[in-house]
Amino acid sequence: MTSNSIEIKDVSHVYKTQTGPLPVLDRLSISVPKNGFTAVVGPSGCGKSTLTRLIAGLMRPDSGSVWLFGEKVEQPRATVGMAFQNPVLLEWRTILQNVMLPLEIVGSSLTASARKERAHHLLALVGLTGFEDKRPSELSGGMRQRASLCRALVHKPEVLILDEPFGALDAFTREDLWQVMHALKKEEPFTGLLITHDLRESVFLSDQVIVLSGRPARAQYILDIPNTGARSLDDLYTPEAIMMLNDLRHQIKVAQERN
Ligand SMILES: Nc1ncnc2c1ncn2[C@@H]1O[C@H](COP(=O)(O)OP(=O)(O)OP(=O)(O)O)[C@@H](O)[C@H]1O
Ligand SMILES: [Mg+2]
Repeated sequence: MTSNSIEIKDVSHVYKTQTGPLPVLDRLSISVPKNGFTAVVGPSGCGKSTLTRLIAGLMRPDSGSVWLFGEKVEQPRATVGMAFQNPVLLEWRTILQNVMLPLEIVGSSLTASARKERAHHLLALVGLTGFEDKRPSELSGGMRQRASLCRALVHKPEVLILDEPFGALDAFTREDLWQVMHALKKEEPFTGLLITHDLRESVFLSDQVIVLSGRPARAQYILDIPNTGARSLDDLYTPEAIMMLNDLRHQIKVAQERN
């Protein structure tokens, strides 16, 4: 039906609340091409997390439709990986066992040793070699988020959905993790959708930034980011990057005024 990995078509959603209906998404359309990485920014409460739940198949939209690889999303599927602001790791499992969890859930065909090898490989990529046998509480927040990214990717999902995954981290740790994300993507491509409040993060990680309007959210503005791939943090200080960031900042202001 389409060559896009993620296709959100004319999606509207209204929550029923005690104080009446709350429209959150209004005929929202977004397309993410295969192996593309789209960042979604917008005012707090405009419906971004709602959007991730719709893509993950945890909820159905009131109207419109969500498609992954040309198939309509009606329920959660194993080809989607997710990571959130607060990584929920199981304290009774080691880091390695936490990372391997999705393989158990989706009933992976890998042998036990291949599963371990896969988890070790990802943990090495994010710099967690030597921490495989620790418990989550023995790790820093940044390390836990690294482990949670490994867990989201361990079963080689075609789509990775990230809902403010670095929001709770300090600025330096966050920048480290941006580079980790680039390394992970380079190693094995996936289609990504990143929700963030950090405009620099959106420009650094994505090839397309979508600014949502205030609630109910529509796609207010789309910015294409050139030269994806090999990026260094210095690239965020070039005149082109600063122009893009100003552009986005202006659009966010417009969106907030509508809220
Ligand atoms: N299950 C629910 N029932 C009723 N209202 C909800 C529900 N989930 C979210 N909402 C409301 O819908 C609106 C959008 O919520 P959502 O979590 O999608 O926003 P968001 O853009 O992710 O916000 P933030 O940037 O603060 O994370 C908010 O006003 C929220 O209170
Ligand atoms: Mg949210």
